[in-house]
Parts: sequence; C-alpha cells; structure tokens
Amino acid sequence: MSDGLEGVIAAQTVLSDVDGAHGRLVIRGYAVEDLAGRTRFEDAAHLLLDGFFDDAPSDLSSALGEARVGVFAEVAALDEGLARRDPVEALRALLARIPDGDDLKTALRLIAAPAVFTPAVLRVANGDAPIAPDPALSHAADILRMIRGVPATDAEAAALDAYLVTVCDHGLNASTFAARVVASTRAGLTSAVLAGLSALKGPLHGGAPGPVIDMLDAIGTPENARPWLERALARGDRLMGFGHRIYRVRDPRADALKAAVRRLSSASGGLPGRLAFAEAVERAALEILREHKPDRPLDTNVEFYTALLLEALGLPPSSFTCVFAMGRVAGWLAHAREQLAGGRLIRPQSVYVGPEVRVAA
Ligand code: SDX
Repeated sequence: MSDGLEGVIAAQTVLSDVDGAHGRLVIRGYAVEDLAGRTRFEDAAHLLLDGFFDDAPSDLSSALGEARVGVFAEVAALDEGLARRDPVEALRALLARIPDGDDLKTALRLIAAPAVFTPAVLRVANGDAPIAPDPALSHAADILRMIRGVPATDAEAAALDAYLVTVCDHGLNASTFAARVVASTRAGLTSAVLAGLSALKGPLHGGAPGPVIDMLDAIGTPENARPWLERALARGDRLMGFGHRIYRVRDPRADALKAAVRRLSSASGGLPGRLAFAEAVERAALEILREHKPDRPLDTNVEFYTALLLEALGLPPSSFTCVFAMGRVAGWLAHAREQLAGGRLIRPQSVYVGPEVRVAA
C-alpha cells in the first residue's frame, strides 16, 4: 500500500507534466513560465479543453462572456446567511445549482461559475449588491470589476490572468484526482467540479494561500521571522506556502508568480516593501525548514507568492481558495473529459486489517 498514494501513477494524461525532481511544469507542451504573463486565462482554458469538445470555438472569450451572464441568474439564490459562510462553502452551494451535463455548455457554465459567484458572495457578505457580468470584458478584467465595482487596470487584469494560468492545471493533485474519480462514475461535470472544489478547500491543498497572509501579518517584521517560525515548527505547525508532495526543489510557479507580483508592483507603484518583507520571511523559512527537516527537501510552493499577488489585487484572504478554483476549474474539466474519453471506473483496493470473521451474538 502507498500512504497517500505517494509514487502511484493512476493515469496517463496529455494535459500537464509535473517534474518534481527538476522543478518543471509543462502544460500541453508549454513551460508554465512561458504561459504565465503572456496568455489570457481564456486561452489557457482553450489549450486544456482543446480536443475534448467537438464544438469548442477557437477563442473562448465571447462564449465565456455569455456563460458568465448566464450563470449570474443563480446569484438570486444568494442570501446574506449563505454569503456569510466560508466563501468556498457559499461557492459550493451556488455551484451545485448548475445541472450536471457532459457538454461544452455545461463546461463553460462551470468555468464561469466561480468567477461570477465569488464576487457576488464577497459583495453580499459586505452588504453590497452583486454586480452583473460584462461579457465584453476579458475573464480576468470582469472578475476584478465584479469584485471591486470599478474597472481593472490592464496591469491588474494581466496579473490575475498570470495567476489563473499558472494554477490552471497541475497533474493529479488531490482536487483534480477527486474530480477524475467522480467523472469516472459518469456522474457528470458539475459533480466532478464539486468534488474538486471540496478537496481544494483543505489547508493542505488549496486552502493554504489565505493562511500565508495570516502568517506574514503575525510575523510583522523581518527581525521577528526566525523566532516566530521556530516557535511555529516547535508547535508542530506546518508553514503555509512551503513543501510539496511532488516538488523536491522550488515549485516553478513560485517564481512565475513572484515575477507577476513585480510586474504589478512596477505598474502600480505599491508593494516593494511588502515584497521585500515576504522575501525575508521566505529566506528565514527555507533556512529553518532545512535545519528542521534535513532529510526532506522543503521549498517554496505555489501558495506563498499567490498570497502576495492576490493581496496586491485587493482580494480578501478568505477568497483566495475561490480564486484558486477560478483557474483550476479548467483543469478539473479537462481531466474529467479525459477520464470519460478513455478511462475506466476508478476503484483501487484496500487491505483489510479489521477483526477476524466472527458471528453476531
Ligand atoms: C498545493 O499536489 C499538488 O500538486 C498541489 C498543488 C496544486 O497545484 O494542486 O501544488 C497546490 O496544494 C500546494 C501545497 C499547499 N499547502 C501548503 O502550503 C500547506 C503546507 N505544506 C504541507 O502541509 C505539505 O508540504 C504538503 C501537504 C503540501 C505535502 O505534504 P506531504 O508530501 O504529504 O509531506 P508530509 O506531510 O508527509 O510531510 C513530510 C514531512 C513531515 O514531517 P514528519 O511528520 O514526517 O516529521 O515534512 C514535514 C511534515 O511535518 N513538512 C512540513 C511542511 N511540509 C511538510 N513541516 C513544516 N512545514 C511544512 N510546510
């Protein structure tokens, strides 16, 4: 038995390759650092879905814009009580209103859903009215406008695109594997996406970026980094934003996202202080983790600079996992379709270690 399925190959895929030994991520043949910052999310989504839907247009922009408008109708079901729940739980409840299907229309609605529902949840939780989508905008620009109520700058939309593209697919991570398991039963794409979103919620997976901000704020100053981190490890805490099941060296997405933070900072003028502080915390964390776990290389993962980028875009840490889902939903859908195209029902075995056979009294 492999604990946590570590080292187990459970599928072959044309979608992405995660090379943990060399710190490389390739998505449909493109290195992630060549996509992030140069590609809009809708183009990355097309790259992933290409070949899985006969009727997929070459440019998803207008179809995705229409899908954003279409799913906005479901926001009517959002009351303040639901909006005040954990944003992932509120998103999950609204997503569940999208009927199951295996067609492109369902897939586009599921890509549009986190992008439209998350802004609505954030605004209704703050007592504001949701803002309807603008199909003429790019996906990223419309997301920021629906959250903040003002148009995004080109630099801000480009920064969110860089994030959504960077996280759109990553092999058989826990949430994508969950989506594939559900897809393999032929339950439908909505059910597969709901499984992925539920797995993503966990702090060991997609729930980590929000706590990175909490950690930075608790540390407060560069001088306090080492003592604070040492106390955390002594308590047995995990340092959010570090470590990875596959990467034994630095996660290539960390640098792609740090570059996106730098581009945004030079465009908006803010940030250099916060970035310098985060880099100081990162250096201290890497030193301490190497001392703490000399036998297990623990390096920066995707979440550390995710937190800085989404914070710089003015998004609340409580929304970070929902924003992660806005990008990863394209990967969940592509993997679900790939599983349907050629995979069998996913059903591993287990070794029984329970009581010997006995007769009820
Ligand atoms: C994502 O799989 C993917 O591809 C995921 C992802 C994606 O794109 O889908 O890349 C996104 O989930 C990134 C990871 C986000 N999570 C965090 O940043 C939370 C903190 N990191 C961890 O909890 C941990 O590193 C995991 C969960 C990410 C990976 O854990 P593993 O591979 O199962 O390793 P492990 O839990 O068995 O840990 C091995 C040892 C342990 O020590 P012992 O208990 O054996 O003494 O390393 C230690 C751990 O305590 N360790 C850490 C640590 N990560 C591992 N110690 C302190 N801080 C950490 N961050």
